[in-house]
Amino acid sequence: MSEVLISPSILSADFAALGQAVADVDAAGADMIHVDVMDGHYVPNITIGPAVVKALRPHSSKPFDVHLMIAPADPFIDAFVEAGADFLSIHPDAGPHVHRSLQAIRARGAKPGLVLNPGTPAATIEPVIDLLDLVLVMSVNPGFGGQSFIDSQLRKIEALRKMIDQTGRDIVLEVDGGVNPQTAPLCISAGASALVAGSAVFKGAGSLSENIAALRADPI
Ligand code: DX5
Ligand code: ZN
Repeated sequence: MSEVLISPSILSADFAALGQAVADVDAAGADMIHVDVMDGHYVPNITIGPAVVKALRPHSSKPFDVHLMIAPADPFIDAFVEAGADFLSIHPDAGPHVHRSLQAIRARGAKPGLVLNPGTPAATIEPVIDLLDLVLVMSVNPGFGGQSFIDSQLRKIEALRKMIDQTGRDIVLEVDGGVNPQTAPLCISAGASALVAGSAVFKGAGSLSENIAALRADPI
């Protein structure tokens, strides 16, 4: 079993019972809780806002890994940190001054993350790497759960792993989209230290704990 962190995406949970879903994946062995925030503008879908994050916060003591797919992101940084985001990740094209946005997240007391879409190069993190606690590699185009893993992102994960190792800092390298028991080992071999999974956890074949364990399992 690998020591990769598993961050179930509640996007694939029952939205009528989100508090219970958060408590259930926590009990089933999740290391973090991934919250997908979409605004219908940066991505073609709308999900949840800070009020829901705040309402969910008491249902788990695990870190909340909040993924903002909103533009602009800056006006909402305070609200999401106050609501209980531990990691707060933004897309570099969600505002004009990504360095300033990352600084604002840290100044507010959360851990800043930068998200790379499938078409965004690894080198994007280079000028801001000192500000990052997390790099999130999208292995699908953002907006929806249940899409297929884009294999070309594995090379990007390998490149990011080298860049992160050179810093000597503990930066989480997380992969998001189409992660399942078949693609998880590929991500881990490429250097990922955390995996987001929505469908594979909430709609997988087994119980929540079996589905989470299947993502950590070494390939046979
Ligand atoms: C997509 C989201 C992902 C998504 C993952 O925009 O960022 O977190 O919910 O869902 P699966 O695991 O089903 O691909
Ligand atoms: Zn996500």
